[in-house]
Amino acid sequence: MKVTVSLIKADVGGFPGHSAVHSKLIEVAENFLKEEGLDTGLLIDFKVLGVGDDLQLLMTHTKGVDNPEIHELAWKTFKKTSEVAKEMKLYGAGQDLLSDAFSGNVRGLGPGVAEMEFTERKSEPMVAFMMDKTEPGAFNLPIFKIFADPFNTAGLVIDPAMHQGFAFEIWDILEHKRVFMKAPEDMYDILALIGAKSRYVIKRVFPREGSPLPLDEPVAVVSTEKLYQVAGKYVGKDDPVALVRCQAGLPALGEVLEAFAFPHLVSGWMRGSHNGPVMPVSLKYAKCTRFDGPPRVAAVGFQLNNGKMIGFADLFDDPAFDYTRQIAGFVTDYIRKHGPFEPHRLPMEEMEYTTFPQIRKKLEEKWQEIK
Ligand code: F6R
Ligand code: MG
Ligand code: MG
Repeated sequence: MKVTVSLIKADVGGFPGHSAVHSKLIEVAENFLKEEGLDTGLLIDFKVLGVGDDLQLLMTHTKGVDNPEIHELAWKTFKKTSEVAKEMKLYGAGQDLLSDAFSGNVRGLGPGVAEMEFTERKSEPMVAFMMDKTEPGAFNLPIFKIFADPFNTAGLVIDPAMHQGFAFEIWDILEHKRVFMKAPEDMYDILALIGAKSRYVIKRVFPREGSPLPLDEPVAVVSTEKLYQVAGKYVGKDDPVALVRCQAGLPALGEVLEAFAFPHLVSGWMRGSHNGPVMPVSLKYAKCTRFDGPPRVAAVGFQLNNGKMIGFADLFDDPAFDYTRQIAGFVTDYIRKHGPFEPHRLPMEEMEYTTFPQIRKKLEEKWQEIK
């Protein structure tokens, strides 16, 4: 059976400030998806979550990716919840719904989308990762580690079903181009690109010849929407989400999670203008507090059962990640002490997409030529 898993998210209003999602919005979204999605037979299953100030719609169906009905359902859910957010005067209500011109796809309208269609295996363990206060390139390092780094994923070395490695689809999100590369042989070229995480992002990962899985069906996908390109001005960071399939010829669940044991530096955080560590947290702690952060990642695990989701395991709700959180706390404190100085504050090129150019414009008249 071919199933599609769609994770579509948007900031429809924060509570309080930009920190979290109000429980009322989750309730409204659940009721709406039940009535308009489950009861109509459009969806097989769904789960609504809040991570940071983003409302997350995790849905399963058989309509394939980029399906107009599914996207319209997500769009209407965001519209409905943002109306409620406006009534409640929640913060930044409707923030990510940048255009009213819905025409079959939420892409380019503000929400972030990670979806993939594949043949459900005998047993199909999956993880949905949801980050807040950062950008899609924040997934480059962990996704690379999961599917290409033998120091992270033991299976790349010792599982014959994985020994051939994986293929990466990498997007240039500025020039709207993509390239396919294979690990391990193209590893240095892959890293040359994805190390520049504000421009080159891993979009999908595919199995390779020798894998027990179909080669044209993705095993991981990341949302790659760039809000600033959509709006032409700063409207909040494009907090990313990702879906990863695990086990039996794919990285084990524990190898997938292992990549998040290092709280790497990502850009976003306060005013989308700062570098900071990404902290893996349980859903309970998926709210951005200190300096609107630090950036967070939550992970829910589930097993597909003919498209139904048997779940949901709150995977970072585990003392095994306490040490990572401690390091993230230490790095948070260290980097915060730089205040407005780089490299805590983002480099000039990236500040172009914040409110910074307005400040520069204000100072224009004060400048004098140096003779
Ligand atoms: C970052 C984010 C927040 C806001 C900050 C200022 O993505 O959303 O850090 O940028 O709280 O928000 P305003 O300008 O709405 O007061
Ligand atoms: Mg917000
Ligand atoms: Mg957010």
